[in-house]
Amino acid sequence: MTSITMTVNGKPASGEVEPRMLLVEFLREGLGLTGTHVGCDTSQCGACTVHVDGQQVKSCTMFAVEAEGAEVRTIEGMAGADGSLSPLQQAFQDEHGLQCGFCTPGMVMSLETLLQDNPKPTEAEIRDHLEGNICRCTGYHNIVRAALAASGQL
Ligand code: FES
Ligand code: FES
Repeated sequence: MTSITMTVNGKPASGEVEPRMLLVEFLREGLGLTGTHVGCDTSQCGACTVHVDGQQVKSCTMFAVEAEGAEVRTIEGMAGADGSLSPLQQAFQDEHGLQCGFCTPGMVMSLETLLQDNPKPTEAEIRDHLEGNICRCTGYHNIVRAALAASGQL
């Protein structure tokens, strides 16, 4: 077992993990942050997307020990301290950008990085950015609308 320490959603987090433990397992099982989902475990679906040091990462592709000392943000860290939804989360709600909701945490985390880097993306840029996120309910149209709404383009 190996000791790891990182910052998750602005708070210190630590644990004893096996070197083979994935970051998504540490977040879900070690820290109880089950908003980060596992849809495939083979780095295809994007349901496990989180931010590590500001970069979008599929947390099933990274070992927990690789996040030693990192700043990690999960979907639980998106809402305000008072529980209010982030502008992007609110746009998902307003535009009905989800059906079953399984893909939604990953979609939100992915689109958040797009909007940070490109505050007014085109529809084509949004669709291109979501290449690594699969929605099994095929609700892409309203997800794209949510990103357009959050960037003030609807
Ligand atoms: S669970 Fe990580 S990409 Fe699907
Ligand atoms: S809303 Fe069901 S998988 Fe996307």
